[in-house]
Amino acid sequence: MSWAMPLTDIRITDEDVEAVLECLRSGWLTMGPRVQAFEQRFAEYVGIEHAIAVSSGTAALHLAALAGGVERGDEVIVPNLSFVASAAAVRYCQATPILCDSVGATDLNLDPDDVRRRVTERTRAVIAVHMMGYAADVERLRTLCDEHDLRLIEDVAQAIGARTERGRMTGTVGDIGCFSFFSKKQLCVGEGGMVVTPDADLATRVRLLRSHAMSSVTWERHQGYAETYDVVDIGFNFRLDEPRAALGLSRIARVDGDIATRRRLVRRYRDALRGHPAIELLWDEGAVTRSSHFAFPVLLPNRETRDRVRAELNGVGIQTTAYPELGELSEYGGAQNEQTLARSRDLAGRHCVLPLSALMTEADVDMVVAALCDVLE
Ligand SMILES: Cc1ncc(COP(=O)(O)O)c(C=O)c1O
Repeated sequence: MSWAMPLTDIRITDEDVEAVLECLRSGWLTMGPRVQAFEQRFAEYVGIEHAIAVSSGTAALHLAALAGGVERGDEVIVPNLSFVASAAAVRYCQATPILCDSVGATDLNLDPDDVRRRVTERTRAVIAVHMMGYAADVERLRTLCDEHDLRLIEDVAQAIGARTERGRMTGTVGDIGCFSFFSKKQLCVGEGGMVVTPDADLATRVRLLRSHAMSSVTWERHQGYAETYDVVDIGFNFRLDEPRAALGLSRIARVDGDIATRRRLVRRYRDALRGHPAIELLWDEGAVTRSSHFAFPVLLPNRETRDRVRAELNGVGIQTTAYPELGELSEYGGAQNEQTLARSRDLAGRHCVLPLSALMTEADVDMVVAALCDVLE
């Protein structure tokens, strides 16, 4: 399908292409010096001690849960309104995701008060997801997790470069932060992810599990640092390859500029839609200033209107999306009392994500706004 206005869009520059070509010409394609350089650059960007590159955001979450000590029989609190990977990571460890509710129509993210209500003696961790680029209240969750001796894992797949209410970079408040470089994300390389942590022991564990729990990796043996290896646990192949690391290194310098452009466009959307009788804007100006603007969702009066609006915008070539709540997915629903997830259920049914990318112009935003207002008449 060729959209008049796709949900999002990316530009691969000549420099990006050259960085990947240079890597291909070097003849070393698996995890090696570019991955190391990307990890170092990423750690500097986020402002944290350790960054470990992996094959996807999902792999990052999986390793974070394992390194964080999540085991069979544990419970991990996960927002009902998230992408499935946040909950799947818990299931990979044979633990149970306990879905929690959103704050409400001002903030889609998980509600710390609801998290507190769901803590039991089996709870091992909380996964705080920063939805759409807006920081969840990880500072309050940090206090809660410390009180109950729980791991705090941040799912930063959608929020690279965002800041918390107290000005901390998302991903640096929890024990572990998990990023995604999937092709729709702000720092996209196709597929890829990063685990960050201030904790040297957690970093060592993630590094080990990333590559079969081998005591040395291929690059180290190639360099002559080791001749053989031992395998000390059950690990995975969650390595990032060199061409993707080269692309990530080339693109990371542009992330902040892209976020600033997205923020300008979001402000234009908000100014144009504020006061519309059928549209509610999420978050406030402070949150807009701190967000990295992965996506721009609005709330419509009900699910029926939302679905009709999406279908009609689709009909004129404007791509939109919406996240189903995890509780409505066949694999994750049913086990919990629906009444206690009422806010996230309501938000899942009413939100509509409008097109947003750093390539859009103000005229593009105006076009989407006009089409949206048209279908709401
Ligand atoms: C909130 C969230 N968590 C995790 C992921 C998983 O990342 P990946 O696709 O890189 O595995 C995504 C996106 O894809 C996401 O949006």
